[in-house]
Amino acid sequence: MQKVQDEIKEVVGMGNMVEESHLLKLNYLNAVVKEVMRLHPVIPLILRSPGASVILGGYLVPLGTKICINVWAIQRDPQYWDDPLMFKPDRFLNSGNDYDYKGTNFNYLPFGTGRRVCVGIPIAEKMVPYLLASLLHSFDWKLPDAMELDLSETFGLELRKTIPLLAIPTPRLSGTFYA
Ligand code: HEM
Repeated sequence: MQKVQDEIKEVVGMGNMVEESHLLKLNYLNAVVKEVMRLHPVIPLILRSPGASVILGGYLVPLGTKICINVWAIQRDPQYWDDPLMFKPDRFLNSGNDYDYKGTNFNYLPFGTGRRVCVGIPIAEKMVPYLLASLLHSFDWKLPDAMELDLSETFGLELRKTIPLLAIPTPRLSGTFYA
């Protein structure tokens, strides 16, 4: 949180609110969002059904088969990721287009891939960093006393936190912004 807030302070300044034009300059924040989506993809399994029987990786996949692609497991696979269980946003810094959200890199599919890739990417890739940047710029956040951060997940069509996050905000900007 501190590193992201320092970056926003430099790019946006404590006298301004976050705007869309700042987002491209918030490299560390964008890396944090990518790392969150790697460890906790909103949709952990994407589904496919081939339009014809195909041979895939040496296996016959008959027409009508339902295939679940386990994005959650791929994005934690030590074959593709160093220290896969560690939260390390730096792995996405300066990674250029190698890890964008379009699903062309099969190790990283938070928005799916191919013809059924998420159609909301243009909104989501702006709104998620924008909301996070605004919340972190405007407030400091802490857990209630005696509460530990619990990141366990409950599987379903969407991946949810088992225990909802409860965090306490304290304003950081000058009073005029909150009037
Ligand atoms: C953080 C936000 C979001 C995430 C992580 C996300 C993720 C995904 C994923 C993983 C898929 C399945 C892709 C596949 O099967 O290859 C999907 C599909 C889809 N998403 Fe999103 N999504 C997000 C936001 C949105 C938004 C904002 C919209 C609409 C404005 C949207 C609309 C859709 C639609 C319509 C599909 C179905 C596409 C199809 O089957 O052809 N999503 N999304």
